[in-house]
Amino acid sequence: MNYNKKSIEDIDVAGKRVLCRCDFNVPTKNGVITSDKRIVAAMPTIKYLVEHNAKVILCSHMGKPKGEFKPELSLKIVADRISELLGKEVIMAADVAGEDAKAKAAALKDGEVMLLENTRFEKGETKNDPALSKALASMADIFVNDAFGTAHRAHSSTAGVADYLPAVSGYLVQKEVSIMGKALSNPERPFVAILGGAKVSDKLNVINNLLEKVDTLIIGGGMAYTFLAAKGYSVGDSLLDAEKIDYCKEMMAKAESKGVKLLLPIDTVVAASFPNPIDGPIEVETVPADAIPDGKQGLDIGEKTRALFADAAKSAKTVVWNGPMGVFENPTLAKGTIAVAQALADSEAVTIVGGGDSAAACEQLGFADKITHISTGGGASLEFLEGLELPGIACLEDK
Ligand code: 3PG
Repeated sequence: MNYNKKSIEDIDVAGKRVLCRCDFNVPTKNGVITSDKRIVAAMPTIKYLVEHNAKVILCSHMGKPKGEFKPELSLKIVADRISELLGKEVIMAADVAGEDAKAKAAALKDGEVMLLENTRFEKGETKNDPALSKALASMADIFVNDAFGTAHRAHSSTAGVADYLPAVSGYLVQKEVSIMGKALSNPERPFVAILGGAKVSDKLNVINNLLEKVDTLIIGGGMAYTFLAAKGYSVGDSLLDAEKIDYCKEMMAKAESKGVKLLLPIDTVVAASFPNPIDGPIEVETVPADAIPDGKQGLDIGEKTRALFADAAKSAKTVVWNGPMGVFENPTLAKGTIAVAQALADSEAVTIVGGGDSAAACEQLGFADKITHISTGGGASLEFLEGLELPGIACLEDK
């Protein structure tokens, strides 16, 4: 897939009011941003707009306020952080597309930046209500979408507004779609995908789509136990998507017929129960994947599996990874996830980490700068791997 959408460089933004949708849905604790990764990732676009004398109207959602003003989900803390990174004031609107936002947008001078309040304070946002889309559009001349993390949502501020304004992409959307798009459509081979996470049912279409593209598909994490059960192994008390056993059999047959190597765990770290608290002490042992005892559950991949998966990742030319290999919140059960993150960091391949938990793991472990691309999208990158068209990208003008 070639990225063929217009970008901010394809239009003249000087003197124009530019409504720029970003994904500032950042984690916070006690009113403090705990990771500003998504804000930092939006800065190249914001800086470009400022340097090219646009009147910049930023907007985003945060959390799920469900159409009500919730002070704890105000974007004021985001405005302050952008202001620090930009070295200039970011004017904060008191509403999304109400009187205050409209007055501040109308008064903006070239190169000035403002931020609207949390778009989900408006009931119409998640319903993609044309009235809200029109109200947002009425403040601007151009729409720029740089919110890759929200590109899978067809909401007023991510897609609807593009019905009323010329719409182009920002640098982050362009980068995410180009890197992941190339990996999926024209990868350097061998192309290895590593999937983890709890449930097979969350990744049905991802597995199916990736089997069309990869040379090797690696399955770890909670979802591997349903595959092991599909092979006829007893999985003890491990997480099992019983309704998906037939699906796993179908996928194993598909892999075989396509000549795709499907790697499953060969050993697993088991415990008598799930850790409680999740990061509390836990007694574990490692057993072969076909000999999980009754009353025990698999919670991480074993040492032999770590080596098997790491070898596959190291000898690849392209690696895509989405989903942890075990209960990585617990230090005893994080070894599989660490081993995969380490293998990607050590690999010469183009390495791409889908957002969410695997991205967080790479960052926490300090491997982030050794990975080619860590997506800012969680759900969005998964839908991308499924091969779906994302509404926030489909709505942009073609070149
Ligand atoms: C995300 O964090 O994945 C995006 O910001 C989308 O958020 P949502 O799942 O609340 O739509």
